[in-house]
Amino acid sequence: MNLSKILIGLLLITMNVNAQYEKRANPDDYTTPVLKAIAYGLTAPSPHNTQSWYLDTISDTEMLMYVKHVLPETDPPARQIMMGAGCFIELMNVGMSQEGYETNVDYLPQGDFQIIANKISDKPIAKITFVKNDNVKKDVLYDYIYQRGTNRKPYRGKMITQSEFENIKTLMGDYHSQLQFFTGEKQMQPYLNIFSKAMEIETRTKSTNEETRQKFRFSEKELKEKKDGISLQQMGYEGFILKIATKQMNNGDSLTWHGEKTFKATMKGINKGIYSSKGLIFFKTKTNTKLDWIKSGRDYSRFNIAIAKFGIVTHPYNQVIQEYPEMEGLQKKFKTLSKVTDSEKIQMIVRVGRAKISYKSWRKEVEDYIMD
Ligand SMILES: Cc1cc2nc3c(=O)[nH]c(=O)nc-3n(C[C@H](O)[C@H](O)[C@H](O)COP(=O)(O)O)c2cc1C
Repeated sequence: MNLSKILIGLLLITMNVNAQYEKRANPDDYTTPVLKAIAYGLTAPSPHNTQSWYLDTISDTEMLMYVKHVLPETDPPARQIMMGAGCFIELMNVGMSQEGYETNVDYLPQGDFQIIANKISDKPIAKITFVKNDNVKKDVLYDYIYQRGTNRKPYRGKMITQSEFENIKTLMGDYHSQLQFFTGEKQMQPYLNIFSKAMEIETRTKSTNEETRQKFRFSEKELKEKKDGISLQQMGYEGFILKIATKQMNNGDSLTWHGEKTFKATMKGINKGIYSSKGLIFFKTKTNTKLDWIKSGRDYSRFNIAIAKFGIVTHPYNQVIQEYPEMEGLQKKFKTLSKVTDSEKIQMIVRVGRAKISYKSWRKEVEDYIMD
């Protein structure tokens, strides 16, 4: 290999490394284990990209984790917020394995806790301790952390096969929830119709639709300033279509957002995505406790990293399992169809497939998650 090829190779590697830290902290910029761990954790997914993660760093190797109830309309029990906390814990676990640390988690260390609308949980949801251990091996998922994301574009190509699903589960390793897989139009169709209807309910219900407006960011400038929330860019819009749709949004004007024209345009885009699904996966737990929520969040983030290795992308569709009154009727139908008993809970529903790379969502700075 001649010198110019080596130099080009090195340049490409550097560009790739820089790109992975675009919009995300670089763990190498921090020296203490807790701060490095937060830099890994913040790459995690969270509902509406709320990043509801609050950390009390009690020493260089220990932290207490709290959450804030930021989506009381679509997520009254804060179940999905807690799943997001589980995602954060798992990303820390995978990242810190590369640094030679074991991540020990003591769940609900001060017992059950209350979390009332817009308040930070009164007790920690976990105590996390990092222990240096020469026997810790790099997690098999480590190399894919920065490739994970949510991809809401229409999916194309072949259906995801049972053997692809088995490969994903093998790479994930141990998990707490039971993963159910559906593929092929016949199996998926009744579910897809329910997901589309559930989205209609969420968008037609003023309180839940308004909550989404509050979390929506209407320009690249606003995204860069707030570094959270969701946007047209994250919905898969780009180029000319993004420009037109941004204009139609009228900078988040309430009448426009709740109007019939926006409803129709939203559902058109949503249905394009839903009906292009190449497989569905449900994460089900036998009970529905706070521990189930955190642990199935950990499962989801492992799944979300693992698929990156296989060039598969994913998009959650959780509306029908959300716990607010307007969804109850459809949720009953969904439970009957999916044969879920009263004690069980489907914690997460995702579509899977193959698609073009999507817009990378923002994250706040490490310091923003640390409690005073
Ligand atoms: C518990 C949980 C539930 C989610 N539910 C949905 C959902 O119903 N619809 C959706 O489009 N995205 C959903 N997401 C994805 C988030 O919106 C996404 O993770 C966040 O915007 C950050 O983007 P990223 O995953 O690309 O990093 C969910 C994520 C989590 C962790």
